[in-house]
Amino acid sequence: MRDKNIFFEVIKNFDCSLIENIIELEKENLGPEAALNAWQIPVIIRYGKFITVMQENGKNKKIAGVCEAIRDWNDEHKAFIHSFYIIKEQRSKGIGRKLLEYAAGILRDEGFKSIELTVDPENMPALKLYKDFGFNLVKTEYNEYGRGKDRYLMSLKL
Ligand SMILES: CC(C)(COP(=O)(O)OP(=O)(O)OC[C@H]1O[C@@H](n2cnc3c(N)ncnc32)[C@H](O)[C@@H]1OP(=O)(O)O)[C@@H](O)C(=O)NCCC(=O)NCCS
Repeated sequence: MRDKNIFFEVIKNFDCSLIENIIELEKENLGPEAALNAWQIPVIIRYGKFITVMQENGKNKKIAGVCEAIRDWNDEHKAFIHSFYIIKEQRSKGIGRKLLEYAAGILRDEGFKSIELTVDPENMPALKLYKDFGFNLVKTEYNEYGRGKDRYLMSLKL
């Protein structure tokens, strides 16, 4: 799917430079604690769904955003979005919403019935995006990612 210089891609193959590129993006956009590393990114690519929004400029293309999803072991119709981000210089242009729409479409087409994710209760841009998109707050997961690192668990019916 293409929209001007933006298009979407599910990553299925990788080499060292792609993984190195994603490691940097993870750190820049999620911070060092939440960033996936070289041992985890290939696992999501091979066993989950690694969806990107790409930015094309002439012959150059680069990753503008990432949505990483896995299947719930206890419910085969439920996906969990592990990471979701848009690179800083492309934020607030509607790309996050488009990536979410694209990812939800892929998951729906593959038979998923719901998506869950967690978000920092103080992350206003992400919270607004998810609420506007139709995600509901399920509960607060206290100390989910460490002492004092609470998360809102949110769910979307597909
Ligand atoms: C959250 C994030 C993915 C949003 O992506 P984005 O491309 O900037 O979002 P969009 O431009 O598509 O905006 C979609 C909606 O998000 C909300 N939003 C986006 N930026 C916002 C901001 N700075 N403040 C408040 N709401 C904001 C709005 O509801 C917006 O809809 P609107 O334009 O109709 O008001 C992006 O800010 C990001 O990558 N943040 C850092 C990583 C992160 O926090 N990821 C989420 C982890 S759970």
